[in-house]
Amino acid sequence: MRIGVLTGGGDCPGLNAVIRAVVRKAIMHYGWEVFGIKNGWAGYISKDAEQLDLWKVSGILPKGGTILGTSRTNPFKKEGVPQQIVENAKDMGIEATVAIGGEDTIGVAYRLHELGMPTVGVPKTIDNDLGGTDFTFGFDTAINIATEAIDRLHTTAESHHRVIVVEVMGRHTGWIAVYAGIAGGADVILVPERPFDVTEVCELIKRRHERGKSFSIVVVAEGAKFKTEVDVDGSLITQDVEVDEFGHVRLGGIGSVLGREIERRTGFETRVTALGYVQRGGTPTAFDRVLATRYGVKACELIDRGEFGKMVALRGNKIIAVPMKDALEMKKVDAELYDIASLFFG
Ligand code: F6P
Repeated sequence: MRIGVLTGGGDCPGLNAVIRAVVRKAIMHYGWEVFGIKNGWAGYISKDAEQLDLWKVSGILPKGGTILGTSRTNPFKKEGVPQQIVENAKDMGIEATVAIGGEDTIGVAYRLHELGMPTVGVPKTIDNDLGGTDFTFGFDTAINIATEAIDRLHTTAESHHRVIVVEVMGRHTGWIAVYAGIAGGADVILVPERPFDVTEVCELIKRRHERGKSFSIVVVAEGAKFKTEVDVDGSLITQDVEVDEFGHVRLGGIGSVLGREIERRTGFETRVTALGYVQRGGTPTAFDRVLATRYGVKACELIDRGEFGKMVALRGNKIIAVPMKDALEMKKVDAELYDIASLFFG
């Protein structure tokens, strides 16, 4: 049998660990051939693929990014393209595909599966917002990078008696903000799940400074929304108006807007650091390497059993299979976890 493997959407630490595990299990255990599809779904449209052997995946375990390249190509944007992908996969002799990605990539894999293309999914995203699984790989690395940054920002904030606003990734959910915020001892954490009132944020900071502290750390997810009396649902801060093929705008900039408002309203000197792509790059943590490896092995087992339309997932400490559809149900930050974080606000 010949299988295909692809990585789609934003890159994420652990992608190469999954590819390596898929190749190893497929070749060593099942005797299959593996083809790496280049740049996400785009590789299936242009039939751009290369055969992967054990040599090609040797040494890639600790490397960030993806040896296959990635893109945000959405085949369902153009009529006829999904059917073309199904046909191209058949022409290439590929009988099953492992799609490693987030909501968009898994969503496409699910729809292609419904069109008759055998696919299985592997949940990837630093944002940890996919349903059906306790954790996506890449998240642990991102929160470790963000926590280290917060630790470092603490010492400079304290020395200069400043407020420092740290903007972290998290388009729809605040998992990175809450985990890194708790781990880094943040004084305020703002997440997309709870539109915030800047007056309340300033009150928390003032209260802390009245207690004798001369510095504060505010962690804000890029997708957190400003709320006002007239705009109770809050608005996103975006970098431009253009959207990608999946309809997402480029977020970023809420840290600066918030930092300016905090300084203006409290009078405390305020600085802003946006962590950006640093959170997605570089080597995965040990946890992510192990999780990615387990996911890759399990994805091959699903193919062997013909369990298509499913995604591998972590529940407790077990790797299980869930319907791909479950991944598309966004996993929001638990209220209980946010309450724990807020105990330390102000
Ligand atoms: O991987 C998810 C994510 O990190 C989001 O938090 C962020 O909004 C998005 O990717 C940005 O990705 P890009 O700029 O590569 O489209």
